[in-house]
Parts: sequence; C-alpha cells; structure tokens
Amino acid sequence: MQTVVITGGTDGLGKGLALRYLRQGARVLAVGSTPAKGRILLAEAAAAGAADRVTFLRTDLTSVSATRELVDEIQSTCASVDRLVLCAQRYRLFGARTVTGEGFEHSFALAYLSRYVLSHGLRKALETASRPVIMNVGTPGVPLGRIHWDDPQLTRNYSGFKATLQSFRANDLLGAAFAALHAGTPIHYIGYNPGVVSTGMPDHLPQPLRTLTKASFTVLAASVPKAVDPMARLLDQPPAEPFTAYRTTRRLSLKVPAFDQDDALRLHRLTQDLISAV
Ligand SMILES: NC(=O)c1ccc[n+]([C@@H]2O[C@H](COP(=O)([O-])OP(=O)(O)OC[C@H]3O[C@@H](n4cnc5c(N)ncnc54)[C@H](OP(=O)(O)O)[C@@H]3O)[C@@H](O)[C@H]2O)c1
Repeated sequence: MQTVVITGGTDGLGKGLALRYLRQGARVLAVGSTPAKGRILLAEAAAAGAADRVTFLRTDLTSVSATRELVDEIQSTCASVDRLVLCAQRYRLFGARTVTGEGFEHSFALAYLSRYVLSHGLRKALETASRPVIMNVGTPGVPLGRIHWDDPQLTRNYSGFKATLQSFRANDLLGAAFAALHAGTPIHYIGYNPGVVSTGMPDHLPQPLRTLTKASFTVLAASVPKAVDPMARLLDQPPAEPFTAYRTTRRLSLKVPAFDQDDALRLHRLTQDLISAV
C-alpha cells in the first residue's frame, strides 16, 4: 500500500489530493495545525470507507523543532514514504512582520523552512519506496520576488508581499538544491504551480481583498477536484529527471535564474546555518 504524506492535507489542494489518494486505496498522513479541520477530514475519510488508512498529524509547521518531531514521528510509524506533497501555506500579505518563537520571519518559517526540513528529513524514508516523489506546491514560473541574501529574515523594510515572494523563490531553489545535493537519489523532486484554484486561501486575507479575491475566483479559478488531476498524474508518473518544474500541465525551463544552481547551494548552506542552532 502506498504511503502519502501531505502538509496542508486538511484544506484546499492538499485535502483534495488526500481524499483522492484515500479513494485510490493509499494510506494518507495529513498534516495541519487546526484540530477541527483534521476531524472533518477523518469524518470524510470514514464516510468513504478509509478510516483505517487516514491519519491526521497536528503540527504547527512554523516551528522547526515541531517539524523535526513530525519527521521523527513519520519515520517511526512508516516503513517508507511514496509521496511527499508540500502544500501548507498561510499568506500574510499585510500587517506587521511577525517572528516565530525560534526567531524566524513567519513566511520564511512556514512556507520554506518546514519544506526544507521535511524534504531532507524524510529523504531516507522516501528512498526505500519504489518510485518516490516530492511535490513542492508553490509558484514556480512566476518571475517575482527574490532571496534577500543580506537580510533573509527581512528585519529591514519588511512587507508581507516581499516575504511571501521570497518564500516562493526559496522553494524554487530548494528543489534545485535537493537534486544537486543528492545525485543518484531515486526521488523525483517536482516544483509545482497549480495556477489559480478556488480554495479557502482568501479566508485569511483582510477585507476588502477577501471579497475581491473570492469574486475573482468564481470567474478565474479552477475547482480543487479539477486542479488535483494533473498533480496526481505527475505524482503517479513523474518525469525521468530528478528535478522538474511545472505550471499546471506545462513543463517549465530550468534554465532561468529562479533555479540557478549556485544560488540553490548558497541558500542550502545558509539554511543549514540558520537552523543549526534550533
Ligand atoms: N489556491 C491557489 O490559487 C494557489 C495558487 C498558486 C499556488 N498555490 C499554492 O498551493 C499550496 C496550497 O494552497 P491552498 O490554496 O490549497 O491553501 P489553503 O486552502 O489555504 O490550505 C492551506 C493548508 O495549510 C495548512 N497550514 C497553514 N498554516 C499551517 C501551519 N502553521 N502548520 C501546519 N499547517 C498549516 C492549513 O491547515 P490549518 O489551517 O489547519 O493550519 C491548510 O491545510 C500553497 O503552497 C499555495 O502557495 C495555491
């Protein structure tokens, strides 16, 4: 039986994939921070006859130490992991800079550091599976934002947009670095941009942006079931190359600055240093 680990598996795209894999007979471990959402997922899984194959793991992924505990828990309960899908995200586009208890800027911690710790931490569990895949869901192909090398925690001139875009670009580099660092690994690392999808994401935006985003979703956005179709296809039949990037069904060129190998390895080293004290 396949084991699928999904962060953000209790809502939006992650939940859509969780329910899809449960219907296909896989074992699913869904990670989220809200117990009520976890209970709803468990109830929906039970209604689909999959109660014995679903696990809700409550973790606050803004915390590096909690994410490391999650890695340990998954490794101690799963002989191997076939798919790791990284969807957890909470946009903080407005408002003041917030810092986690471990001293990291919120978007950097949740959207990037948790994915770094899970990708590298679960590598061995993935490598024992027959065709392992990591899918890092974000915005590859969007030429906005950059790594602020001199101040990655954005202590100066902070803006929520800047922080969100930096976390996206950091994830582009995470995939590029993973493949370079682990040459010969059987893991297929896919950076994936789902396009505009109607999820609960706008619920966390301030008004009037929340209403405007929801209104635009009714016109522009794909539904979750439709959006997870190409994701599941890629997860089940990954391309041969160790690292690829897609926007929906379109494969993206890796010969762009977003995936620059020197930058990727530089960010890897910087991240190692940052989290070594935690
Ligand atoms: N929707 C789009 O149009 C779109 C477009 C481009 C890219 N994407 C990317 O697709 C991915 C999924 O987006 P989505 O729209 O499906 O998001 P969503 O519906 O808002 O779901 C976000 C998920 O992340 C979890 N999460 C948030 N904060 C967390 C925390 N501190 N610890 C653990 N889990 C946490 C949430 O669970 P809790 O609430 O319980 O914490 C929820 O399960 C994201 O990476 C996003 O950037 C989405």
